[in-house]
Amino acid sequence: MTKSEVPANARSSSRRGGAMVSVGELFSGAGLFGQAFADQGAHLSFAIEMDPLAAASYAKNVGKHIELGRVEDLKPRSKVDVIVAGPPCQGFSTLGRRDPKDARNKLCLVIPQWAKAAGAEVVVVENVPPFLASSYWRKMAKDLERDGFEICTWTLDATEYGVPQRRVRSFTIASKRGLPGRPPATSDRMVAKDAFAAIRRNDPMHIWPEGTELMVARMSALPLGGDRRDIARTAPELCPPSWHKIGCQATDVWGRINPNAPANTLRCDFQNPSKGRYIHPKQDRMISLREGARLQQIPDHWTFEGHRTAITRQIGNGVPLGLGRAVAAQVLGLF
Ligand SMILES: C[S@@+](CC[C@H](N)C(=O)[O-])C[C@H]1O[C@@H](n2cnc3c(N)ncnc32)[C@H](O)[C@@H]1O
Repeated sequence: MTKSEVPANARSSSRRGGAMVSVGELFSGAGLFGQAFADQGAHLSFAIEMDPLAAASYAKNVGKHIELGRVEDLKPRSKVDVIVAGPPCQGFSTLGRRDPKDARNKLCLVIPQWAKAAGAEVVVVENVPPFLASSYWRKMAKDLERDGFEICTWTLDATEYGVPQRRVRSFTIASKRGLPGRPPATSDRMVAKDAFAAIRRNDPMHIWPEGTELMVARMSALPLGGDRRDIARTAPELCPPSWHKIGCQATDVWGRINPNAPANTLRCDFQNPSKGRYIHPKQDRMISLREGARLQQIPDHWTFEGHRTAITRQIGNGVPLGLGRAVAAQVLGLF
């Protein structure tokens, strides 16, 4: 068993009067959060996703119950015990434009409607932490409370749940069955080199973009854990004038991963050196799709649909499995 597979202490089933607890997913992406609930013993009844490539990956790896479409245009086809939702975070994220008028922000407001129509007793919404301070969260929470749910929120750091990546996410739990306790941290702390161990050379996902000669020269000027400030200092001739203007303010971009620490939050464009600290710890290249998938604890047998950037998006959008399982265990424990 590799570190990316289901841990031995995962629940074998989650039962409600003999039947498995049923889960419906909204904004399912390629299905990492849904898979975490399945790993903890839930039955996945339906899943809705509007991106055809993410939906195709979901169908291959998680289940054929995925339905392609927009949540605002569809209705539940069955009753479920739990609704799990990961609405788009770009309008709330500090990495995005944080635009309060982003049309996607209001998508979270369909979640209470789905919960009501599906007869769900528990709702779980995952997003970036600033979501909790938004007017959209307040409206969503008010609608759920009006429908008889109690609400609690958790802000959790994936490194506390055996994930080799720093990733802080908010979880909103609305429940008619009492509120669950915050997931206890696990004792296993993982670092980037744990995720990168024993990757097969012929793994079709062990691929990265060919860098130009200039890009490779910049990478080779990077020490372990270094970033573009190091390149600007030791090899200024390789840097555009803008890097010198910004000076030491911008950190992490063109960063080399420290193998002995958790990796930085994986973004949807983790194969672009200008987007963060995603250069391989020892080699002068971006991390591969497989290395990115490992940082999200995606099992090696999963395969993804689409071109490279569509795949980095599906991987970077997901909830790392260790974090998802920790949340799922608490939620399913309510039944
Ligand atoms: C943050 S990702 C969800 C990732 C997922 N929770 C996981 O762990 O893999 C959000 C997803 O919502 C999808 N999406 C955005 N707007 C949508 C809509 N109106 N209807 C359905 N899906 C939508 C996006 O295509 C994206 O895959």
